[in-house]
Amino acid sequence: MTDHNTAPVILVTGSAKRIGAAIVKAAHCQNYRVIIHCHNSQSEAQKLSDELNQLRPHSAKVLLADLSVINTKDRLDAFVKAIITSFGQLDVLIHNASRFYPTPINSIDNEQWDELFLTNAKAPLMLSQALLPYLQAQQGCIISLLDIHAHDKPFKGYSIYNMAKAAQRMMVQSLAVELAPVVRVNGVAPGVNILPETNSDQALDPGLQNSIVDSIPLQRIGKPEDIAHSVLYLIQASYVTGQIIDVDGGRSLTLAGGKY
Ligand SMILES: NC(=O)c1ccc[n+]([C@@H]2O[C@H](COP(=O)([O-])OP(=O)(O)OC[C@H]3O[C@@H](n4cnc5c(N)ncnc54)[C@H](OP(=O)(O)O)[C@@H]3O)[C@@H](O)[C@H]2O)c1
Repeated sequence: MTDHNTAPVILVTGSAKRIGAAIVKAAHCQNYRVIIHCHNSQSEAQKLSDELNQLRPHSAKVLLADLSVINTKDRLDAFVKAIITSFGQLDVLIHNASRFYPTPINSIDNEQWDELFLTNAKAPLMLSQALLPYLQAQQGCIISLLDIHAHDKPFKGYSIYNMAKAAQRMMVQSLAVELAPVVRVNGVAPGVNILPETNSDQALDPGLQNSIVDSIPLQRIGKPEDIAHSVLYLIQASYVTGQIIDVDGGRSLTLAGGKY
């Protein structure tokens, strides 16, 4: 069995809860040392880290940062240093952090553009670049959490989010070519794998939720663990790069552009 002090290290952005936390738990189960990044959800991140460290001492750390750090060289350098000094190496980088909310036409403003593009496109690219030397040293990999609406089938009323995820999808394909053969880059595109929290600005109304479930061939909302399973597969898939796996219960097959 691998000694935990030499175990590979994974960073999952925005992983205090929901899909990110499921990825962290699944990787920890596979003996990874985990860096749980959070912004506002520090108490949830600390609780998750404490649980994992109880299972295996010195196997989990929490790092707090607004991903806007990527806009300032000094703050980005400090974040990268904190990531690398957590365990002394980085093997896997997962871009999971995201903002998601509607931006109907005639209501769009610059702040929405900046926030949705920062979290879903710019931060993944700039963080990948900043962490590249460490990933190269480990012959590591990058996995981005995308969306089935990032390509051809827009989610109605979410134009900025759709555009930002499309940019992130192209980042996966571009970096897969550019970083080969040393670092692999892949994506996982959820359909509806966990609904936004009901009390958040991201909440979907119940009518929309019902029409979404109706449109899914497997007739249910997915689970965060379904995403984690595919992420773990891609980490281990040593001959796979530039690929995007839809994990959506078949939803992308029946979805018409502009319809739910
Ligand atoms: N949920 C789904 O079914 C679904 C469907 C399609 C695609 N996806 C994609 O899958 C990924 C995970 O989905 P999710 O629903 O679990 O994500 P989420 O809950 O909407 O967001 C994950 C985390 O992102 C962090 N975050 C947001 N803005 C940030 C910022 N400026 N700086 C640092 N962290 C920030 C937040 O951390 P704090 O809470 O610590 O602030 C949040 O907890 C996302 O990339 C999403 O686009 C999900």
